[in-house]
Amino acid sequence: MVNLSVKIGSLALKNPVMTASGTFGYGEEYAEFFDLNELGAIVVKGLSVTPRQGNPTPRIVETPAGMLNAIGLQNIGIKAFIQDKLPFLRRFATPVIANFFGDTINEYVRAAEELSAAGGVHALEMNISCPNKQAGWIVFGTDPKTMEQVVSAVRKTTSLPLIVKLSPNVTDIGCMARVAEQCGADAVSVINTLTGMVVDIKKRRPVLANATGGLSGPAIRPIAVRMVWEVYKAVKIPVIGMGGIMTARDALEFFIAGARAIAVGTANFINPVAPVEIRNGIAEFLREEGLSDINDIVGSLSITPKT
Ligand SMILES: Cc1cc2nc3c(=O)[nH]c(=O)nc-3n(C[C@H](O)[C@H](O)[C@H](O)COP(=O)(O)O)c2cc1C
Repeated sequence: MVNLSVKIGSLALKNPVMTASGTFGYGEEYAEFFDLNELGAIVVKGLSVTPRQGNPTPRIVETPAGMLNAIGLQNIGIKAFIQDKLPFLRRFATPVIANFFGDTINEYVRAAEELSAAGGVHALEMNISCPNKQAGWIVFGTDPKTMEQVVSAVRKTTSLPLIVKLSPNVTDIGCMARVAEQCGADAVSVINTLTGMVVDIKKRRPVLANATGGLSGPAIRPIAVRMVWEVYKAVKIPVIGMGGIMTARDALEFFIAGARAIAVGTANFINPVAPVEIRNGIAEFLREEGLSDINDIVGSLSITPKT
């Protein structure tokens, strides 16, 4: 038997395969395709204290190796999540990780408070790739000072395991990961989408109504693997890797680069059973390699020249 269980701070996962926030809704649609007990954790769509309509359409455009989205953090709000979605998720023996965000530090704090009090939420994932209303709409996670303020404030609010989801749109991701660790984060998620643009050449206009959007899918995988590796070297807390994982082979690159767990995002839109196939493929690889524990390959990357 191969051991696939991992620990993210005090959160024990039966296997290291999660869903990436915003690509799995609140789980209901995917439960028609497979038993959600098969997952290591369910990470739900990003939540805010008040519901959001999101951006005008078009909000999604395909690129040669992935997609660009500008959904604008549309969500039903925390109250409706707790009332209408959480009872369904509580039926599964799979931890629920609530992804959340706000426009101000106060909104982050309120969101964390309400989700922590709900019962049935096992960890929080902070999305800090959001603009800060009080600081000229600079993205929280691209400025170490604002990031420090918001992560520290949330840390004081909750005793649940706290995962900080880093923005890749920064110069030094290792530095940002250290800020999260110093502020008391239990883990970091690496990476969120990279800002991009697709142009309609006839109209000379961006395809997305919002002009720019977040690039996800296979195009960003090499960047994500590199960033996981940099973060792994920079901090002691566990790293959750994501960005373009489509197969078990892709996922294994992340473990070897230092990820303790991984999340499947854009792949869910193409193949709804991708997370289960990836989990099975990881176990098969370990067996083939004569390994008995996923934890043994975490950070096993060798960069010294071959002798
Ligand atoms: C349509 C869509 C919606 C997303 N919504 C969120 C969100 O609400 N909160 C968040 O932290 N990340 C969100 N993400 C980012 C993903 O969770 C993930 O970090 C990113 O897509 C990279 O992984 P992938 O290439 O496997 O999709 C979203 C991504 C997509 C494609």
